[in-house]
Amino acid sequence: MAVAPGTARQENPLAEGLALRPSPDPCALVIFGASGDLAHRKLLPALYALALRRLLPSRFAIVGVARTAATDESFREDMKAAVQEHARDPFRQDVWAKLAASLHYVATDFADAGGEDALHRLLERLDQERGLGGNRVYYLAVPPPAVSPIVDALGRRRDGRGWTRLIVEKPFGHDLASARALTAKLRACFAEEEIFRIDHYLGKETVQNLLALRFANGIFEPIWNRQFVDHVQITVAESIGIEGRAGYYEQAGAIRDIFQNHLLQLLALTAMEPPIDFTAESVRNEKVKVLRALRTPGPRSVVRGQYGRGFVEGVEVPAYREEEGVAPDSITETYVAAKLYVDNWRWADTPFYVRMGKRLARRETTIAIQFKRAPHPPFEEIAAEGLRPNVLLVHVQPDEGVSLAIGAKVPGQGMTIRTVHMDFLYGGAFRTGMPEAYERLILDTLLGDSTLFTRTDEVEEQWSLVDAIVAAWQRDRPAFPNYAAGTWGPPSADDLMHRDGRSWRRH
Ligand code: BG6
Repeated sequence: MAVAPGTARQENPLAEGLALRPSPDPCALVIFGASGDLAHRKLLPALYALALRRLLPSRFAIVGVARTAATDESFREDMKAAVQEHARDPFRQDVWAKLAASLHYVATDFADAGGEDALHRLLERLDQERGLGGNRVYYLAVPPPAVSPIVDALGRRRDGRGWTRLIVEKPFGHDLASARALTAKLRACFAEEEIFRIDHYLGKETVQNLLALRFANGIFEPIWNRQFVDHVQITVAESIGIEGRAGYYEQAGAIRDIFQNHLLQLLALTAMEPPIDFTAESVRNEKVKVLRALRTPGPRSVVRGQYGRGFVEGVEVPAYREEEGVAPDSITETYVAAKLYVDNWRWADTPFYVRMGKRLARRETTIAIQFKRAPHPPFEEIAAEGLRPNVLLVHVQPDEGVSLAIGAKVPGQGMTIRTVHMDFLYGGAFRTGMPEAYERLILDTLLGDSTLFTRTDEVEEQWSLVDAIVAAWQRDRPAFPNYAAGTWGPPSADDLMHRDGRSWRRH
């Protein structure tokens, strides 16, 4: 018999207390772009997971909005199929029936005059029937050009009843200027506290665990600095390609798709000072200081790449330039590696090597803190030849967990030392499934907690760095492709490390 998730948690003493959060107020969640991929693959499955765990408000409505013609009934059927395909939990008809009863659909185009009327009428009705008190979460899961008319219309309709929150999906602009323009547009109708900019990496359990690891343990913080850390390596490797998203990816490239947001957020969380408390402003104040302290890397410190044909997990895959919708002479990068410095007291002169790319050998997101070697190991060189410096490795995904590489004596006569690993694996320790990032982020928005969302100043600092890197790229035309799909990126990325007498972590 399937065991309800709530029951499984009670059986596991380590997971006690995980569900202790206040319930969100009654409200309506309006998803713009409801016919899109994100709604199907992530948002509805996340809402189903929240419903299953009884974490949604008792009085609640979900309204899908898109241009595609559909009825409440056909929308519910469509979303049921999406949940059955993508949810992390087994499908339960009773849970679904309850969630489906709160689902509605409005087919409209906000670019048309009066396009918002039907939505407005439905929300008024739902307020009356369900007592939602005018509380709204608007989720903008639409392409950038569609944002402006929606925001204008929502602004016009604000009537001061209830609270309003706006979730904005990435990309948040294309560069600093467009990000500022977008913020100005949003701020004309919404206060900064009402704007929730999504970076879904912040919703990942392991990313939040980085904060737990650093600030809930007394042993790491004293050594988390330039005196003990030799360097940091952050890897966001994907084995997938661009998954039919050429239109978006040709404009974005790896630098805007991953570096500007996920990667820089991982770096900020790794390097930040301890916040005085875990409130949105305290955490984000510390992150933004790191982003501000990032030095613009010179051209020799940045490597870009694009994949050619190759084999990924035994399957032959086309080159980036052969993907549908990609220009045959495209110079969009699918890989970036860089050496970055955080110019502050804690990290001065400590390199942060980062790399990210598509069609790499495997999917792997890790943060490796490599400590300095023991100053004077009293062993024969030969005895310690298998000994590497200590590394604290945070496995963001897959195989979520943390592992510490330490030197240990090989059993037997003599004093041979090897590196071994002390491992903590989420799955084994907590015996509970890992929530999807979107579950956490949607629930946080319903609760009005913006700690795990990106503030204006963070986004702007992220773009400033990206703009400087991209500006330097305009000067020459790269010789692409320069790495085969299924490898670990271009040789020049290895050179970046070798020049410093270091190398990328082997896998
Ligand atoms: C998205 C990017 O933000 O993150 C995608 O646009 C990428 O290109 C995805 O594949 C990776 O997310 P995850 O959660 O699978 O690591």
